[in-house]
Amino acid sequence: MTRASRRSKNRRKNLKRSFKIRAKFRPSNESQATISPKVKKYWLQRYSLFSRYDEGIKMDEEGWFSVTPEEIAVRHAQRSVGGGVVVDCFAGMGGNSIQFAALGYHVVAIDIDPKKVEMALNNTKIYGVDNYIDFIVGDFLQLAPSLKGNVAFLSPPWGGPSYKMTENFTLNLLKPVDGHALFQAAQTITPNIMMFLPRNVDVCQVEELSWLSSPPLNVEIEENYVRGFLKAVTLILLILQRIKNEINMFS
Ligand SMILES: C[S@@+](CC[C@H](N)C(=O)[O-])C[C@H]1O[C@@H](n2cnc3c(N)ncnc32)[C@H](O)[C@@H]1O
Repeated sequence: MTRASRRSKNRRKNLKRSFKIRAKFRPSNESQATISPKVKKYWLQRYSLFSRYDEGIKMDEEGWFSVTPEEIAVRHAQRSVGGGVVVDCFAGMGGNSIQFAALGYHVVAIDIDPKKVEMALNNTKIYGVDNYIDFIVGDFLQLAPSLKGNVAFLSPPWGGPSYKMTENFTLNLLKPVDGHALFQAAQTITPNIMMFLPRNVDVCQVEELSWLSSPPLNVEIEENYVRGFLKAVTLILLILQRIKNEINMFS
């Protein structure tokens, strides 16, 4: 084989490979025609974010990297024992709201961005749970004092994917205000609070949050894995959980 024909064979091989890669990345969902290279990594994990993704799930760029993976959202819902009303204080694409509603809770879902609320509503319809969710477009911090519920679920922004660069993620890095202020706002809704936090969060600081709880509750910090990878941690402070544990002890 001459050098020229070898080169042309290699070129053909490389072309084939690049076609294969592009074909793999081709969005199957019409609404996702705008997937940018930034979100490609998350798009490849789309079914772990929404198992019914292909039925018309809608996401924006922030949604791609901030939605709670479905397996973790299911776990959050399972941990919120007791029933009643869950206030999803930062509802985003509806990843958590869907799973709370699927487990029989009534959900009050808040997000400051009207476009996100529109997408979340679309996503809850795909899961057939939209009738169990009331959406509010607004600022959680302003709304909190006027809300009541059985559980307040907080999934605040972590400041974008760069949160991973920080060795020790402190609560003041949370948005729109620091973790203590978020926790205190949630306490006006209910003492039962769950807070979804980055895996590199300063655990001592998280434990200290429970000192603010009134009445004092047992604190649990649960690690959240997806396919064996640690993705996040959840602070769980539930009176309901404590009551359930006590019932189990005596039964
Ligand atoms: C991490 S995402 C929530 C993801 C959500 N758990 C899900 O599974 O889709 C955080 C959301 O908080 C919203 N947000 C930011 N500041 C807010 C505020 N002051 N009040 C209510 N929502 C806010 C953002 O628009 C974003 O959608």
